[in-house]
Amino acid sequence: GTTLKAAAERSGRYFGAAMGSDRLSDSGFLNIASREFDMMTAVNEMKPDATEPNPGQFDFSRGDAIYNWATQRGMRFRGHTLAWHAQQPRFWGSLSGSALRQAMISHINGVMAHYKGKLYAWDVVNEAYAENGTRRSSNLQSTGNDWIEVAFRTARAADPSVKLCYNDYNIENWTYAKTQGVYNMIKDFKARGVPIDCVGLQTHFTGGSSLPGNFQTTLSSFAALGVDVALTEADVTNASTSQYQGLTQACMNVPRCVGITTWGIRDSDSWRGSENPLLFDRSSNPKPAYTAVLNAL
Ligand code: XIL
Repeated sequence: GTTLKAAAERSGRYFGAAMGSDRLSDSGFLNIASREFDMMTAVNEMKPDATEPNPGQFDFSRGDAIYNWATQRGMRFRGHTLAWHAQQPRFWGSLSGSALRQAMISHINGVMAHYKGKLYAWDVVNEAYAENGTRRSSNLQSTGNDWIEVAFRTARAADPSVKLCYNDYNIENWTYAKTQGVYNMIKDFKARGVPIDCVGLQTHFTGGSSLPGNFQTTLSSFAALGVDVALTEADVTNASTSQYQGLTQACMNVPRCVGITTWGIRDSDSWRGSENPLLFDRSSNPKPAYTAVLNAL
């Protein structure tokens, strides 16, 4: 039989997963990871709190362990993430205004210098929009509405070779306010020359058997702005085969949908573990959703 990565590669796409450094000693996980996937992401180890625990003091040990394991096996790597309202260094909590803005810029420069030339993409900014389509309130947003474009301009200067992505959840339904809010930001960035290469749709699907409305239209509409799109953290309640088949087919139908990443490999790896949302079960066996995805690639 074939594998997820071989099937994805036939159309020039990738099939990715996320892993934590605790999985580096889990042979069941590692066997599937090296067999089936050609793109890797760190679940928590490249987030701001992990990489810069104290001001100017960077720690790449756990991120590098995952990066080295994956790239030694021929995988590419997505960096996740540089600026986010969650999982921030504790010291950001006592900063605001221009001091926090400068801490964000220094963080992006420090982390990107370490990984310069080594990554496929960076999720530069994660989850900056609220459900109603306006900016999410956060300490970073309070530094001024331009914080996102400053993050992208800083990132481009720090590593011109890596794709720069904006990543968010609940932006799959085309008629949803949050999707429109993010779409308008990307459109504005492209119009004004703010450097951005890709939009990551996390694709955390909950319930039901059909996709969020017009999912493929969302992908093609973002792509028409001149960015790649990717499904960056896919997981689906009870691993609905029809939703997995549908999200895969939607990506395949959009030329600039470059790949799909699932947020973990087995249900036991998932942050939504009780919902059994992934392609492999707790005994490392492929589930019906695996076959549905494989056949749609
Ligand atoms: C999650 C991790 O899976 C958990 O281990 C952690 O406790 C919280 O973050 N959106 C994202 C990811 O962009 O970084 C999140 O990962 C899941 C939601």
